[in-house]
Amino acid sequence: MMRTIILAVTLTATAASAQTVPPGPGADVLKARCVSCHEADIIVSQRLSLAAWTRSVDKMVRWGATVTPEEKDALVDYLASRFPPR
Ligand code: HEC
Repeated sequence: MMRTIILAVTLTATAASAQTVPPGPGADVLKARCVSCHEADIIVSQRLSLAAWTRSVDKMVRWGATVTPEEKDALVDYLASRFPPR
């Protein structure tokens, strides 16, 4: 009787965690200022208007994010153009 040993090799698909931050003028700000407390996913999964993105970034600043006024302008423009309401 032959015993078949099946080795189930579980390969974790690490490619799935690739960052999905599209390039753009605010992308560097996002990568520098916004991913110290959480993943970029929580940001790029949102679809918001310019006003709502501004409120969201203001909220993050109140919670401890550090962005200069110039960085904030670049960031909210970038977010509103790349991630507008669906
Ligand atoms: C000081 C820590 C910190 C920094 C820096 C930070 N965030 Fe957050 N952010 C949080 C916390 C805490 C939450 C909510 C809890 C969670 O689900 O992780 C959150 C949630 C969010 C959400 C989900 C919606 C919401 O309002 O809860 C968005 C969008 C977001 N952050 C955007 C940003 C952006 C854009 C930046 C860069 C300007 C940023 N965050 C930087 C702490 C931070």
